Amino acid sequence: MSVTATSTLRETDKAHHLHPFTNNADMHESGNAHIITSAEGVYVYDDKGNKLLDGLAGLWCVNMGYGRKEIIEAITKQLEQLCYYPSFFNSTTEPTIKLAEKLHQLGLPRLTHTIFSNSGSGANETAIKTIRNYWNLKGKPGRTKLMSRTYSYHGVTLGATCLTGLTSCTKPFGLPTEGFIHAPGPYHYVSDTTLSPEAFGQKCLEETEKLILAEGPETIAAMFVEPVQGAGGVIVPPEGYLKKLRELIRKYDILYVSDEVITGFGRTGAMYASDAWDLDPDIQCLAKGITSGYIPLGATRISDEIADTLFKGGYYAHGHTYSGHPVPCAAALANLELMEKENIISYVSENVGPYFQEKLLSFKDHPAVGSTRCCNLMGAMELLDHGKKVTDPYFGLGPKAAGLIRNEGVIVRGLANLIAISPPLTITHAEIDTLFAAVKAGLDKLI
Ligand SMILES: Cc1ncc(COP(=O)(O)O)c(C=O)c1O
Repeated sequence: MSVTATSTLRETDKAHHLHPFTNNADMHESGNAHIITSAEGVYVYDDKGNKLLDGLAGLWCVNMGYGRKEIIEAITKQLEQLCYYPSFFNSTTEPTIKLAEKLHQLGLPRLTHTIFSNSGSGANETAIKTIRNYWNLKGKPGRTKLMSRTYSYHGVTLGATCLTGLTSCTKPFGLPTEGFIHAPGPYHYVSDTTLSPEAFGQKCLEETEKLILAEGPETIAAMFVEPVQGAGGVIVPPEGYLKKLRELIRKYDILYVSDEVITGFGRTGAMYASDAWDLDPDIQCLAKGITSGYIPLGATRISDEIADTLFKGGYYAHGHTYSGHPVPCAAALANLELMEKENIISYVSENVGPYFQEKLLSFKDHPAVGSTRCCNLMGAMELLDHGKKVTDPYFGLGPKAAGLIRNEGVIVRGLANLIAISPPLTITHAEIDTLFAAVKAGLDKLI
């Protein structure tokens, strides 16, 4: 691409394109619109000729790496055979059926049925409506309130935004609406506490139970929980916390929804974190890694009991034009087959995951780092401002550090005062070395 062409492209971008989750004015003023032109493996290439190691797998999604022929060929083949047909009105397609079966075979056997959508937000929004439908059919229409946690991220549609426990995502839109309750998320580092992480987790559980009792358990429909809170800062739950949260939710007959949009499909070293951690959810939401990001797809898996209730309820009046679209379903099937062929789960849990984790955690001694945490290929470093801990999320050390690291040839995500790292699962030891060498070079400049 010529220089003239790309500068024109930037002008056109400024004139006509509003970027999501971006300060558009700042980006255009600094000339920092970053145009990616191609990608292979764990690397992306930009219009200025830079080769960058993608330490974020796109947006925690390109799990099997870029340019995988098997997925591309499956998409092409499906497009040629049947480019689209809906799953409305008694119809569907073969890849849709096969993918629903495959998701069931991969774990959490109590979740027998899948409702497809187009994104993680769509998967959560589908869960919200399905939950309301379920409680109505059970003769308990008073169970309408939805719980989630502070620092959680569940997406951008109206309901998913209301679930999200980050004011940066809710406040500009005057959300959440009534009926959404946020229990404390176990984010130990930013909390003003002298408790250990485990004791702090216990305190969060106690606060959660108090909230349930104050609201009235019979008014609460469901609780949405990310096994590891991703966009809120890669908050790895303290030992024992999630299992106890699950039991607490069960005690009050509230539905437990596991939002595995990031953690599904290998990132934490298991196919489904909820299965490996024995969380037995009633509903599981999936997206991102289901197709390794090659093409959009969301999935909401529901228990046999919920499915049975919906079946008995008659007409299920929900679904997108593209729910169960054959092309993303074919992409997902090819992606999952590739994962199995390459034993990617054991590659993450026994090989690159521990190596990545050891390297990331060793940064706790770096002078710009206040704390580190990691769960296989999902990690974060809290940053210090000239040796001082910062808890104001708008101070912006994370984006600053991410900029410095990008100058060293690696993409990480800057969030509040931390950097999050989650590379493709196919990353090698040598590429992990390259990644952390750039992180170190960038952070050395932050001191
Ligand atoms: C845990 C979680 N849930 C839901 C979503 C929303 O997914 P999408 O951006 O595909 O709508 C995300 C996106 O990052 C996520 O991390």
